Amino acid sequence: MIQDLGMMEKIVSLCKRRGFIYPSSEIYGGFSGFWDYGHYGAILKENIKCLWKQRFIFDREDMFVNDASIVMNPNVWEASGHVSTFTDPMEDGKQFNTMFKTSVGAGEESIVSYLRPETAQGIFTNFKNVIDSFHPKLPFGIAQVGKAFRNEISPRDFIFRSREFEQMEVEYFVREKDWEKHFQEWLEKMRKFGKEIGIKQIIELDVTPEDRAHYSKRTIDFEFDYPFGRKELWGLAYRTDFDLKAHSAKSGISLEYFNEETGDRLTPHVIEPSLGVDRTILAILLSSYTEDEIGGEPRIYLKLAKHIAPVRAAVFPLLKNKPELVSKARELFLNLKSQIPNLEFDDNGNIGKRYRRQDEIGTPFCITIDFDTLKDDTVTLRDRDTGEQKRIKVSDLKEAII
Ligand code: GAP
Repeated sequence: MIQDLGMMEKIVSLCKRRGFIYPSSEIYGGFSGFWDYGHYGAILKENIKCLWKQRFIFDREDMFVNDASIVMNPNVWEASGHVSTFTDPMEDGKQFNTMFKTSVGAGEESIVSYLRPETAQGIFTNFKNVIDSFHPKLPFGIAQVGKAFRNEISPRDFIFRSREFEQMEVEYFVREKDWEKHFQEWLEKMRKFGKEIGIKQIIELDVTPEDRAHYSKRTIDFEFDYPFGRKELWGLAYRTDFDLKAHSAKSGISLEYFNEETGDRLTPHVIEPSLGVDRTILAILLSSYTEDEIGGEPRIYLKLAKHIAPVRAAVFPLLKNKPELVSKARELFLNLKSQIPNLEFDDNGNIGKRYRRQDEIGTPFCITIDFDTLKDDTVTLRDRDTGEQKRIKVSDLKEAII
């Protein structure tokens, strides 16, 4: 594959210029492996997480939500195998554990723990709580969205490999004999989600036994062609009963499932769809970045799916120095705001500049209020992808945009 590093520079520059993503602590020269999401980046991220929650949790009847703490009892990481095996090789051959250490408590009382390197373990440690509170029937799942931390030896490629990132994970508990069926179901769900959020092409790779994590008997890596090469985007793993058995052994608490109808006890097996939020954002930005010409002028736009775009539609007065247009535009904006998500009012610069800015943000629709609006309650609706403008009644706007 030909590497296209120029493309990464364009994406990083657009993200900074338009308020999506900034280097962390930038006024102090940044901090390697850490990034801050600005206004539009944070909204884009929120829209992706909301859609993931809808598809992976709320559209189903067999899912529970979890929000575990980031710092946990260090025994969790002993039992999970992270203390002994979550390492990367150093140049001089020394293995380096990539969990961030932190000290909890003061003085001699303090103990060493870690910032979680995955959200998954907070789900396994709450398995018994979910069973006791909700008495679910197998199969069922527990989902968590949250930050994870890895002290990567060489963070690189913008938000692709960072030291602080976010994960959207499901641990789906099944009977051992059914694991292949459920593995296939989650595979389909991940494929559909990739399409729905507009990732251009995802390549699936069945990971060989030598390359799989210690807990997995089958893993599919979802890969994406980033400008710096074909790399992992998400993972789907069959984690067997490794985690529940390991935590049961270490804690001395039974993490078995008791089927009241049949009287059998078993340790459920686990299917884990694991999606990194930041890599998802990078793949979406790369898939949607487009350069073309409109009216003989070059332009850049993000062809974002409308349900994840940080601005669904922007409302403009044609001229910002005409109070009657500004007040009509404000009135329309305030009316529509409660009906259309992520609506923005924009009267910066001239109309050409506003279109350019909204194109770069990926705003699917721009609504312009002009002198005709004052007479007949119609506006101009501009389509981001074609640049076409059509006259439309204010009363028809919601249907055209939603
Ligand atoms: N619970 C399983 C697990 O954590 P993983 O493959 O190590 O598996 C899952 O991580 C996902 O988290 C990856 O597919 C990727 O999307 C994201 N991820 C992992 N390390 C990352 C990093 N350093 N920076 C950004 N995202 C990362």
